[in-house]
Amino acid sequence: MLAGLVYQETGISLSDNKVDLVKARIAKRMRKTHIRTLKDYIGVIENDSNEFACFIDAMTTNHTYFFRENKHIEYLLENLAGGVRHRIWSAACSSGEEPYSMAIQLSEAGLAFEIHASDISDSMLETASRGIYPKDRTRCVPLPLVQRYFQQGHNKWQGHYKIKSGIREQVKFFKYNLISDPAQEQYDVIFCRNVMIYFDHETRQHVVNKLYQSLRPGGLFAIGQSESLVGVEHPFKYLRPSIYCK
Ligand SMILES: C[S@@+](CC[C@H](N)C(=O)[O-])C[C@H]1O[C@@H](n2cnc3c(N)ncnc32)[C@H](O)[C@@H]1O
Repeated sequence: MLAGLVYQETGISLSDNKVDLVKARIAKRMRKTHIRTLKDYIGVIENDSNEFACFIDAMTTNHTYFFRENKHIEYLLENLAGGVRHRIWSAACSSGEEPYSMAIQLSEAGLAFEIHASDISDSMLETASRGIYPKDRTRCVPLPLVQRYFQQGHNKWQGHYKIKSGIREQVKFFKYNLISDPAQEQYDVIFCRNVMIYFDHETRQHVVNKLYQSLRPGGLFAIGQSESLVGVEHPFKYLRPSIYCK
């Protein structure tokens, strides 16, 4: 029943081998909300939209880090034209490392851009807007760029970095559900990485159709390096592994 709710809301298929993980995540929410039985917890999420949002948050996998699978951004640096403003969408941005990684590198290259970044998870969007991260998340960022774009945290924020405001202000975050929200205005680039692996074939097809509609002709589309559009019907032109063009 709970897996059905998650599927309906997010498109995420919680297969049988995830039962233990799901149980552990629900148990954590129950402890936090002081609810003793699963039946009571289900009653709460059916009637309380705040706890329902926390439940959905708890069911999503948000793992990410700065400069993850950076080949996609390197491709943008090699192929985006100078002298025009590029409209970029990081769909399923988690806690923001992906769009900030783009903003840092496109700024370094002197390209003009606006980045919109979305996720289904309220808590991830909050973290993303705040822009404070454990240092470990920057392990793949070259040191000179860390020094230029991050501020060291002190006292309570020891061991953390904050993205400097110049970069933070270049990324606009918004809540967007890939399953149920309508196609967006035309973007020049869409990244939708490391989320479709959690979707079944039908959901993937639905999301790819919607993202295709949200791209302008000639626009670029990147998926995660371990993902594939095999089995999905689409009119994209294949450019290189996990990069496509409309
Ligand atoms: C593993 S993270 C990927 C982050 C980043 N794109 C990357 O590659 O590092 C997957 C994200 O997808 C989000 N997500 C899951 N289902 C979603 C949906 N239906 N609509 C929008 N975002 C969703 C989750 O909240 C999570 O933050």
